Order: sequence, then C-alpha cells, then structure tokens
Amino acid sequence: MSFKIAILISGRGSNMQAIHRSIQENKLKAHIAVVISNQADAAGLNYAKEHNIPTEVLTHQAHESRESYDQRLASLIQKYFVDLIVLAGFMRILSPSFIQAFPQKIINIHPSLLPAFPGLHVHEQAIAAGVRYSGCTVHYVDEGCDTGPIIDQRVVPVLPEDTADTLAARILKEEHQLYSECIQKIAAGQVKIENNKVILNFNSKNSL
Ligand code: GRF
Repeated sequence: MSFKIAILISGRGSNMQAIHRSIQENKLKAHIAVVISNQADAAGLNYAKEHNIPTEVLTHQAHESRESYDQRLASLIQKYFVDLIVLAGFMRILSPSFIQAFPQKIINIHPSLLPAFPGLHVHEQAIAAGVRYSGCTVHYVDEGCDTGPIIDQRVVPVLPEDTADTLAARILKEEHQLYSECIQKIAAGQVKIENNKVILNFNSKNSL
C-alpha cells in the first residue's frame, strides 16, 4: 500500500513540485493525496491542478480563532487518511491541539541549519551573523517555532558577495533534494524518534 502524504503550502510550492517530481521518477515511493493551501492564489495550486493532484483551499475567515481554523484544517486532512503531513512553505503557526492530533506525523523544512536562525528573515539573519555556512533542515514539528527532532540537514557555503536572494536560491536547490529523501526514509520505516532525537537506520534497501 502506498504511503500517503498531504502537502500544505501557502505560495509558489517549489518544494511540493520537487516532491512530485521525485515520485514521478520513482525515487520517492509515495502518493500525494492532497495539496492544501491557506491562500486561494498560491501559485503552487496551479501546478497541482495541472498534474491532477487533488487540491483544497482553506482560507482563514475574518475574526476566526487559530483553534477554529486548525480544527477545520485537521478535519479536512483526516478525510484523506494520510500517513504524513508535509509542510512546504505553509505560512501559519499550528496550534498545540493540531500538532497533538497528528503525533509524529507532521514534518517541516526550514532554510537554515537549525537550531540557528528559526523564524522569518532567515537568510538576512545568517548574513548579518557572518556565518560561513548555512543550509536547510527537515524536522518533525512540535509545539515550538522551528523546533522538533531534526531528521536531516544539508550544508551550503555562505559567500562574501551573497545577498539574501542568492543564498536562498543556493539553499532551495538543496531543499528540493533533501525533502524527498527524508520523506522516503520515513515511508521506508527508517526514521524513529527516541528521547526526542531522530535515529536514522541507513541499512534498509528502500532509501533514495
Ligand atoms: C522554503 O524556503 C522553505 O524552506 C520555507 O519556505 C520556503 C517555501 O518555498 N519553509 P516553496 O513554496 O516550497 O517554493
């Protein structure tokens, strides 16, 4: 039975597209059950529709509480019976009750080497700090901001002439590889959490 994922986006969805390409190339043995956006005009929705991936739009209603939105989101996701919820540029903070509804079933990608530079304006932070290396991190989502057990990371150099945009582009290329690799490891049962840390078992034959 194929490993079913829901991908949550808010914008261009290039990570979602990279995951879809890995599936098409049979490198990632998974099925995208649904792409959900909280923005009706997210560019990534067009790609999903063009490739016959089911899409849903769930916009935040005026004066609606975070709890209420997240309950609607959880009910929507539950209809698809997915094995994993993949946050791919989903620009909303999820409430503790949402996270508790899907224990160890939500992952995120962040464009820095966590725990350095969580939150927003990540590349500006990295350049301002003068770090020589940055990168990306795939992690399980817990109730903190960009915290949660780290699954894997990729490193890129920060060059003297870098702007936030050039650094973001270098990191994004790595994100597109790393996210599919991590999902494949989870789908293949190679990822477990012990004492709030991820243990990767590299012995299985199912990895990318
Ligand atoms: C990526 O840089 C990701 O790390 C961050 O948001 C961005 C989303 O880009 N969480 P895209 O929508 O996948 O192109």
